[in-house]
Amino acid sequence: MSKSFLSRRAFLQTTAGVAGASLIGGSALLEEPAFATGQAVAPSDQVRFGIVGVGMEGSGLLTTAIQLPGVECVAAADLYDGRHELAKEIVGKPIRTTRRYQDLLDSKDIDAIIVATPDHWHKQVVVDAIGAGKDVYCEKPMSHNPADGLAMLAASKKSDRIVQIGAQRTSSVLCAKAKELYQKGAIGDLNLIECTLGRNDPTGAWEYPPPPDLSPQNLDWDTWQGTAPKKAFDPLAFARWRCWKEYGTGVAGDLMVHLISGMLFVLGINEVPKRVMSYGGIYRWKDGRNMPDVQPALFEYMGVPLYMRLSLGCESTEVTRFMGSKGVIELREFSVSYSPQSGVDEAPSYYSNSFPAPMRAAYAAQWHKQHDPIPGHEPAPESITFNGNDYDDLKPHLYKFFQSVRSRQPVVQDALFGNNAALACHLANESYFRGHAVAWNASAEKIEPVA
Ligand SMILES: NC(=O)c1ccc[n+]([C@@H]2O[C@H](COP(=O)([O-])OP(=O)(O)OC[C@H]3O[C@@H](n4cnc5c(N)ncnc54)[C@H](O)[C@@H]3O)[C@@H](O)[C@H]2O)c1
Repeated sequence: MSKSFLSRRAFLQTTAGVAGASLIGGSALLEEPAFATGQAVAPSDQVRFGIVGVGMEGSGLLTTAIQLPGVECVAAADLYDGRHELAKEIVGKPIRTTRRYQDLLDSKDIDAIIVATPDHWHKQVVVDAIGAGKDVYCEKPMSHNPADGLAMLAASKKSDRIVQIGAQRTSSVLCAKAKELYQKGAIGDLNLIECTLGRNDPTGAWEYPPPPDLSPQNLDWDTWQGTAPKKAFDPLAFARWRCWKEYGTGVAGDLMVHLISGMLFVLGINEVPKRVMSYGGIYRWKDGRNMPDVQPALFEYMGVPLYMRLSLGCESTEVTRFMGSKGVIELREFSVSYSPQSGVDEAPSYYSNSFPAPMRAAYAAQWHKQHDPIPGHEPAPESITFNGNDYDDLKPHLYKFFQSVRSRQPVVQDALFGNNAALACHLANESYFRGHAVAWNASAEKIEPVA
């Protein structure tokens, strides 16, 4: 019995959490689970944060962040007063609430800001927060458009502030396992990446119900619109902003960015795709939106195609497949699996069926002589599955952010990473709207047509 098998057994007996061991390269891909030991945090290591935007995602971030040891929320900003009430309910003790995020930036007792506004407000809040000396956790996609991303990146580069973007799966144990497998050469030479995700219900397609009491009295509608063209108070735009390019970034910025971020992390690269072609349309949700509800895209990364199939018109499992000459790594919400492939013929070639019988028999006999394994030594390829915590769990990503705020060590998903991931999505959207393939011209800082 191998050592790795023994450790896997021991591991499975102690936890139902992430499990698995690999025989790849003869080394166990098994880490002992990290159980938090002392939760006490020295007063000097206490981090006080303020949150800007306490909506669907902000409320989850707030709930999760305050469960972390040594992390305290002292203030929340939101343009809708109902969310002041929500923030107080979540924190469960008095906190300051305001419509003006600038009040949080002026507060000396706030170390860090969590930004969970709609995409069209990310840039201004992040640039202002960095300028005010705050560390920043900003939701994905980092930017609403390439120019916003460049401004955010420049602000981050100019400062020593910690900036982490919120595509949380890059902090998950499952992405780490996939990365380890890939970097150990499990799949040989990568030649194709496939990402798919499909939804088929109104909530999945962002047809969210606006808060019933929403009105221009309890929402600063004018400020909410930011730099977007002004329009009359519109509760649907408030709740369903993802549907319109004036505020959101469509399926690309909402969903694709998670898949791209996970893929960049697993491959250990941090770059913009060489080119992108995207096609699609509004097929299922003809509700006045101007962003597509079906949007496949083809990217080139590392000279290899990445095929992305995104749809709000038909449900399908979310999965990322890294495909190579020696097998497939499949990353899902709760698991990573590796299926090896020998990459060689395991039987005489069926092309020999086109040979006359004596020739076919001679070919088969020769083939068996050369390839048949010694009896008892037949190949026994090992497939592995790690079952783990949901890769969309916010906790590990927030934990890493607050740890970096204390240690001043860089985060993985910094502004450069966030910008590269967001740019891939902007390229896909631009290709969709222009109807041809596009590329990022880094020196001219603009999107250009490409063959
Ligand atoms: N990481 C994830 O898995 C994940 C999931 C969902 C959403 N998100 C991201 O989180 C962000 C927020 O999404 P959401 O669904 O929570 O949106 P939401 O509309 O539910 O909430 C946004 C809140 O921000 C407030 N707001 C807007 N502009 C503001 C400003 N200038 N100052 C203060 N408050 C302001 C709004 O009033 C609203 O309450 C988006 O960027 C989205 O892409 C990430």
